[in-house]
Amino acid sequence: MNAVQWHEALLIAYFAGSLFVFATLSLVAKAAYGRHKGDKTAWWWGPGVPTRASWIFMEAPSALGFAVIYFMGERALAPVPLILLAMWQAHYFQRSFIYPFMRRVKPGDTTPLLIPALAFATNLGVSFLNAAILSWNGIGQAYELSWLADPRFLAGAALFAAGWHINRKADAMLAALRKPGETGYRIPRGWLYERVSCPNYLGEFLVWAGWALAIWSAAGAVFLLWTLANLLPRALENHRWYRRTFADYPAQRRAVIPGLL
Ligand SMILES: NC(=O)c1ccc[n+]([C@@H]2O[C@H](COP(=O)([O-])OP(=O)(O)OC[C@H]3O[C@@H](n4cnc5c(N)ncnc54)[C@H](OP(=O)(O)O)[C@@H]3O)[C@@H](O)[C@H]2O)c1
Repeated sequence: MNAVQWHEALLIAYFAGSLFVFATLSLVAKAAYGRHKGDKTAWWWGPGVPTRASWIFMEAPSALGFAVIYFMGERALAPVPLILLAMWQAHYFQRSFIYPFMRRVKPGDTTPLLIPALAFATNLGVSFLNAAILSWNGIGQAYELSWLADPRFLAGAALFAAGWHINRKADAMLAALRKPGETGYRIPRGWLYERVSCPNYLGEFLVWAGWALAIWSAAGAVFLLWTLANLLPRALENHRWYRRTFADYPAQRRAVIPGLL
């Protein structure tokens, strides 16, 4: 198979895979990391590995792998692909190499091995799908300078920036709930937390909806679908966990979409 055929096959695999992931995480097993580590299906995910290292390991392909694949492309030095590369890295460089050190990880905390292992492979595939679209000849569109004035790019970039801000601020507020050395959970208060339990996931959805618009490609749409399949069930589960855990949990809060879900 040539690169174009690999790209098409992988797109179909990720589309089908996202339906499988959604069904599995909704009906069969929770992603047993963080607060859901004690779930009865946790043993399915294998032995524990150190949490901070697992975050770097699983997210690094999205920063480094993406950059390598991108720079293998013939159009890598064209200005618009470079801008789109900078957008991607604005999210993933932070997620891979800064965020793992911002998380207030409990001393000795572990994450089941299968989670970083699957995420590593998934992130590598997603990086190929999206990086090749930007810079490889024969895959994706040319992204001329005029694309920067296209309403799809402009709306996508605005959504991406809004989502990036929401995701970072929400994650920073969670980190601030624990003082150094603390390991427990509190009810997050203020800002979007008054509307939803998981504004970090809401921000993540907006980032990838914005990306899908800005690159206007099936690769972006499939990654958005994958992210929804992965994080919607977790948002609903986190929301149920908050309501179970805190008797005084604010009743008006939704899981992830203000006023709706
Ligand atoms: N693109 C994707 O598919 C994808 C997939 C997964 C994650 N992500 C992103 O990665 C980031 C982290 O995701 P996550 O699933 O780990 O988020 P999370 O379950 O909300 O946990 C984030 C961090 O905050 C802590 N925390 C959460 N709620 C808390 C509370 N009420 N009180 C005190 N501490 C609390 C957690 O501690 P514990 O670990 O001890 O619970 C963890 O360190 C998010 O921005 C998410 O969007 C993206």
